[in-house]
Amino acid sequence: MADNLQETYDQIPYGSEPISGTHPGHIAAIGTLLGLTPPDPSCARILELGCAHGDNILGIATMFPRSNCTGVDISPRQIERGHALATRASLSNVSLQTMSILDITPEFGTFDYIIAHGVFSWVPRQVQDKILEICASNLSSHGLCFISYNTLPGWHVRGFIREMMLFHTRTFPDPTLRAARAREVLEFMGSSLKSDTPFGALLQDELKHPRAMPDWYLAHDFMEEFNLPEYFHSFMERCGAQGLQYVGDSEVPLMFPHEFSPAVKQNITRMSTSLLAREQYTDFLRNRMFRRSILCHSDELIRSSFDSNTIRNLFVASPLAAAPAGNAEPCAFKHPNGGGLRAPNAMLAAAATHLGARWPASIHYPELAALVSASLVQVERDIVEKSLCEGVHTCFAAGLMQLSVGPSPFSTAVSEKPLASPLARAQAEEGLKVGTLQHESCSLDTSEVNILKLLDGTLSISDIAARLTKSPEEVSRTVTKFARTALLRH
Ligand SMILES: C[S@@+](CC[C@H](N)C(=O)[O-])C[C@H]1O[C@@H](n2cnc3c(N)ncnc32)[C@H](O)[C@@H]1O
Repeated sequence: MADNLQETYDQIPYGSEPISGTHPGHIAAIGTLLGLTPPDPSCARILELGCAHGDNILGIATMFPRSNCTGVDISPRQIERGHALATRASLSNVSLQTMSILDITPEFGTFDYIIAHGVFSWVPRQVQDKILEICASNLSSHGLCFISYNTLPGWHVRGFIREMMLFHTRTFPDPTLRAARAREVLEFMGSSLKSDTPFGALLQDELKHPRAMPDWYLAHDFMEEFNLPEYFHSFMERCGAQGLQYVGDSEVPLMFPHEFSPAVKQNITRMSTSLLAREQYTDFLRNRMFRRSILCHSDELIRSSFDSNTIRNLFVASPLAAAPAGNAEPCAFKHPNGGGLRAPNAMLAAAATHLGARWPASIHYPELAALVSASLVQVERDIVEKSLCEGVHTCFAAGLMQLSVGPSPFSTAVSEKPLASPLARAQAEEGLKVGTLQHESCSLDTSEVNILKLLDGTLSISDIAARLTKSPEEVSRTVTKFARTALLRH
């Protein structure tokens, strides 16, 4: 079984990229808010299972040069490409190994963070059980795991798209041709039914996602031999049997039933005998199809809700920007994700202004409180200290602010001889997509890539301009953009 998977990923490699939800600084902040004491990610031992080319674990190793990172994948072709990238980026704190998850034993060592993104649902049950066993046996005592997986009931709906693709390609054994063939059935269904019936509307909505995705995604995420979605409660029962417990969701806003009316929220609480049951009822209501769960050892004591006081030790970042004057929108501050702060109190408005000005860099909470105090002279410093935590907590829960346990590993200032992320420079040798030091994926154009490749800390803006026969102003504009995209190092 596992050999089959090795072949399919060797034939059609997966387009791996940094997955922001797996950022150990973010996962550790969630653990800290829930009363845990996760290890410092900047010097942690971090393991990724099913890392494909390794862009995610290589990104983590780049952000945390004192960490010790390991990526494991069964596909030699993918790991080879990862090795080449790590060598080109001169990363000495990461090891990528071609091996099966099934061969990992307790002797492989303990890790403070174990990540399995996009693997669990696409491997046979035996490998799934082994992933949970590794998360229990190879996790340090205060460590955290991240496992993402397809969930029911959402995949009952998405599953029929998979099934029609599998039917339409049943006589096409060549996996490199199957994705193109599968697109035919997506187009056939999409052009045959309009959204004017309940089924037509559901179908049109479901088709949007696969139609927009590349062939490698259709080949694996939709048509891989194994695709085993599971209810959250059933996944958690299996985790419990291995000695693991639920901490929270890496997609923080989904931990709160924000979108439901007070009556619905009350009913969820009334019907739920536990946090896990509450999460399950919420999944039913959301028809949820994917989860990014954070887990830890069962003997750790976890708070039932976030302790906003712990924010005092954390770093806060946010791209919130003041809405333009005269804007018809009722938001005072807008977030690029479409959300916003409608009527923030003066304290939160001051915090949003300072954070927006520093974005993408984070501000340590004590410094943020001092900045807010300084701009609101009429409010006592200890009142700011106390109530700002609540405001930041509310914004974090709504996805408007980010929290991390450490400072941003990048510079937002352009130095005389700018130095870009070594991984991004190595990725730029291969194409137009690079990973940022915020652990996001970023697309560049050819001119930007040519400039990025030269940012090795030895050349000034005018040196680069002369090499590329561009104006220093153009190079400077691009490098300033890189600074705002978290691509430059200190
Ligand atoms: C859907 S891809 C996800 C890749 C990556 N984690 C991501 O999310 O971008 C699943 C990966 O798991 C790997 N895989 C499957 N079975 C495995 C096994 N038994 N041991 C190690 N890796 C495995 C595949 O080779 C593939 O790279």
